[in-house]
Amino acid sequence: MAMWRPKERIKYGVDGGQWPTAAAAAQARLFQPIAIGPVRLAARTWVPAMVPWRADEEGFVTPSVLGWYRRFAEGRPAAIVVEATGIREVPSGPLLRIGHDRFIPGLRALVETVQEASGGETRLFIQLIDFLSVRRRPEPTKYFERFLRITERHRAALELPKASDAVVRAALLALDDDARLALLDDRERESLEKGYRERVTDVELPEIASLPHRLPPLFADAAVRAARAGFDGVELHYAHAYTMASFLSNTNQRSDGYGSTAAGRVRLPLEVYAAVRQAVPAHCAVGCRLLAEECIAGGSTVDDAIQHVLALAHAGMDFISLSRGGKFDDALTPKVGEAVYPYTGPSGYECMPSYYSDGQGPFGRNREPAAQIRAALRAAGLSTPTVVAGGVHNFQAAEALLADGTADVVGIARQALADPDFFLKVRTGFGSAVRLCKYTNYCEALDGRHKEVTCELWDREGLEEPNLPLSADGKRRLLAPPWRR
Ligand SMILES: Cc1cc2nc3c(=O)[nH]c(=O)nc-3n(C[C@H](O)[C@H](O)[C@H](O)COP(=O)(O)O)c2cc1C
Ligand code: SF4
Repeated sequence: MAMWRPKERIKYGVDGGQWPTAAAAAQARLFQPIAIGPVRLAARTWVPAMVPWRADEEGFVTPSVLGWYRRFAEGRPAAIVVEATGIREVPSGPLLRIGHDRFIPGLRALVETVQEASGGETRLFIQLIDFLSVRRRPEPTKYFERFLRITERHRAALELPKASDAVVRAALLALDDDARLALLDDRERESLEKGYRERVTDVELPEIASLPHRLPPLFADAAVRAARAGFDGVELHYAHAYTMASFLSNTNQRSDGYGSTAAGRVRLPLEVYAAVRQAVPAHCAVGCRLLAEECIAGGSTVDDAIQHVLALAHAGMDFISLSRGGKFDDALTPKVGEAVYPYTGPSGYECMPSYYSDGQGPFGRNREPAAQIRAALRAAGLSTPTVVAGGVHNFQAAEALLADGTADVVGIARQALADPDFFLKVRTGFGSAVRLCKYTNYCEALDGRHKEVTCELWDREGLEEPNLPLSADGKRRLLAPPWRR
């Protein structure tokens, strides 16, 4: 899958820096406890949500999902957020789902697996997601034969005022490419060139107009299921390219009270939060992940994010996790037969920067906005803990984020994939044994191709071991090798 890269193409290497002794780690900020609402984390370490493509086609937890989270739990981070999990009764390929009670037993097994593998040290959250429909980029002929909705505009342009749809389609197909394109409006052209994608602003569609009524109970029911399965808390997915982020976005021009103004854009996220909070037991933490910056033209800036965060924190959110970018708006054009993927454009780069970067480099791109957001919270007298992620791969960088007030908790995603034992190694004075992530984004490319996510630093290691779980193509081990001291 093609991905956008900064044109400077400056290559950055990773550096383990200075690792602490076990005694120094015990004193470090990174290993001090913190309260996330009703939940106590033993340290400030957090593995943000990462989709591994290991659920089954129905969205159930599989042995492979259990293996993935067990492996992270063995490294004993203070918290793991389970991957984006769908709250509706819609099939979504091998993505986890939580839109019905039948998913609870599998999710309970997941909670038990993490508790056991971490010796009870790791708290487990689950990311709850709603997403709209995205179709694959169509074959142009099929698009004109079937998908394009014929309207009076097409009839008028073709001077076929009373013609049937079939006649209009045939007339369109008889034109050359340029003439045909000239007859399409922006949205129709996008559907042809990238694939049809629903937007929260498509209020002429009843199912989109009604989202503000339907989503609060869907999120609340999903959160109750998470609590019943034993999760310590839920992370409402208000980030990246999905429904709730689209409501929060500056590009949301809905005129029904759920867009257009700052208050309108944050209204549904607040209503979803209120419904969830009211539904879950008091011991369940409720937080969200949102964008410190959307990183697209006309998108929300850090000043907008500050307003969102203040409103959500005032309402009582237990934590705010900050990501950046990852939007459909600037995603690269997919090949025919593939779906547009939100992490392929410049905003996608901001979300998961790789080692080819610009002068700013791939590490800490969210640092400044995250610091501003936390400062605004504290200035408003709010103590809501924040989580920041992005390129953290050594102890010093993590410690600095806490020392300078950028965040209260450090999210470490790809580094945890490269070495799930990162947290345990650093804490016990074995930092020099950490397998450092190189930020190649091989894992992310697998995600984009809907293949089981692994890391290139270990997935060809020890393939001859007996009973090794392998990827569907048989070429890669699915789990990082154990740490042999
Ligand atoms: C394979 C993969 C899957 C991801 N899936 C999710 C997801 O489900 N939800 C989410 O909010 N972020 C997701 N992310 C983004 C990460 O949580 C994180 O924000 C990003 O990788 C930057 O942090 P890092 O530099 O520590 O990796 C994913 C990242 C990767 C590499
Ligand atoms: S494949 Fe491994 S080294 Fe490359 S970015 Fe992903 S986790 Fe890091």
